[in-house]
Amino acid sequence: MIEIIPMEEAHIDGVLAVEEATFSIPWTRADFMREVRENKLAIYYIARLDGKIVGYAGMWHVITEGHITNVAVLEEVRGQGIGAMLMEKLIAVALEKEMIGITLEVRIGNAPAQGLYHKYGFRAEGIRKNYYPDTHEDAVIMWKYFPFYEDYDKTQEQIEQS
Ligand SMILES: CC(C)(COP(=O)(O)OP(=O)(O)OC[C@H]1O[C@@H](n2cnc3c(N)ncnc32)[C@H](O)[C@@H]1OP(=O)(O)O)[C@@H](O)C(=O)NCCC(=O)NCCS
Repeated sequence: MIEIIPMEEAHIDGVLAVEEATFSIPWTRADFMREVRENKLAIYYIARLDGKIVGYAGMWHVITEGHITNVAVLEEVRGQGIGAMLMEKLIAVALEKEMIGITLEVRIGNAPAQGLYHKYGFRAEGIRKNYYPDTHEDAVIMWKYFPFYEDYDKTQEQIEQS
């Protein structure tokens, strides 16, 4: 059985196992502690499969925006909809909190993650050159805007005309 539940301090060992198996520059225990204990902007969920933590996703609620910090699922259980469930939870929370949208950075060569974000209506809106210190890969900046940002099209027109 899969459960998507808010991340607590007691989950950090399991989250670290996912983190270290997933990323070349993993966050540390102290990073996750800070997120859970101190960061008032942080919103994190874990995915638990039959009691084992197999994934997590998080974002910061920055004024009216959601900034995704990370999404990760253990390799052996990818492709089963767990990333999608985590993303749906973040989107649901963002809508509840009436954010205008969610943004993130993703490696330009990371097709699975970009596939996940596209599936949920994120669009590429910009590039950060040499963003990742390990490979100097560029980041794609993606955004998903919600209906609360009703003036999005008008703003785009203004930008294009200026
Ligand atoms: C990205 C990641 C979280 C996806 O998790 P997952 O549980 O395998 O994803 P799901 O099975 O829920 O798939 C959801 C959607 O993602 C996309 N997707 C997943 N795997 C994909 C792949 N290998 N290639 C292209 N798109 C893919 C698809 O759109 C899929 O929807 P579909 O099944 O209807 O086609 C996972 O691959 C991962 O942990 N990657 C390493 C960490 C990472 O890159 N995180 C993002 C940092 S920005």
